[in-house]
Amino acid sequence: MITVKDLVFSYTEKPFIETMNFSVRDGEIFGFLGPSGAGKSTLQKLLTGLLPRYGGSVTVDGTEAKRAGKEFYQNIGVDFEFPSLYEKLTGRENLRFFASLYRRHRDIDALLKAIGLHMDADKKVSEYSKGMKSRLNFIKALLHSPKLLFLDEPTNGLDPSNARVMKDMILQEKAEGKTVILTTHNMYDATELCDHVSFIVDGAIAALDTPKALMTKKRAVQLTYTFESPDGGLEERSVPLTQTGGDATLRQLIGDGKLASIHSAEPTLNDVFVEITGRRLQ
Ligand SMILES: Nc1ncnc2c1ncn2[C@@H]1O[C@H](COP(=O)(O)OP(=O)(O)O)[C@@H](O)[C@H]1O
Ligand SMILES: [Mg+2]
Repeated sequence: MITVKDLVFSYTEKPFIETMNFSVRDGEIFGFLGPSGAGKSTLQKLLTGLLPRYGGSVTVDGTEAKRAGKEFYQNIGVDFEFPSLYEKLTGRENLRFFASLYRRHRDIDALLKAIGLHMDADKKVSEYSKGMKSRLNFIKALLHSPKLLFLDEPTNGLDPSNARVMKDMILQEKAEGKTVILTTHNMYDATELCDHVSFIVDGAIAALDTPKALMTKKRAVQLTYTFESPDGGLEERSVPLTQTGGDATLRQLIGDGKLASIHSAEPTLNDVFVEITGRRLQ
């Protein structure tokens, strides 16, 4: 569905993205995971033709992104960080207006109901909270049932129950065969939703694989144990599972029967991210 080949891009004289390559399969949820400033939104803008001055090639559903025209925008849905809504119109009026730009569109009331905005549909958007605007902007992206969805941090700032509803709707889009490009700095969202995740740092891809393959990278499995410290408190230490044999403290504690607790933990995507990139997600 998407092929990025030798992509080069810069905002200033200094190159920001240097020869990036990746591809996204038809019908998958593909994630860009990375901390703030990593380049996730820049990538979304490049893929959707909003930043046409790049080098290399970015083909999205057969179209070179920098040459995207009207037809291209009929087939994609975009939910970017800053909602693009008319504040003076109501939620429903906004959706009606945007729906009129498309050849076909989904049922507006059904979308409002699904995201839980039906009771507020006739309020002006200027009276909406930040989270309500995010949710409206999200269903706006789904209006024309696009085969490709670009979602930039869609659950950002939502409470857990509204985030749950949105994530289920994203999974529903995938179930209907849509392809989704999702940006997030939330490792739980990436783990749950994405078929493939790319770790983005400083405008580059540091790793790309399925969440499961990334998390079962052997080095990252940690053994954590606690024991009574000399001052009477509890001390906790962690050691990679593959290096327990070299941990003298642990061997001593086992020999003396002085361990207070011991367990191994499947690494989270965050652990793997730190291990590979040396950076934290947030
Ligand atoms: N319009 C712009 N002009 C110059 N630099 C920009 C512009 N937009 C973003 N940047 C810079 O590009 C880098 C990546 O930004 P962005 O893609 O928004 O990151 P993310 O979405 O991962 O937080 C940041 O260092 C940011 O300051
Ligand atoms: Mg961003």
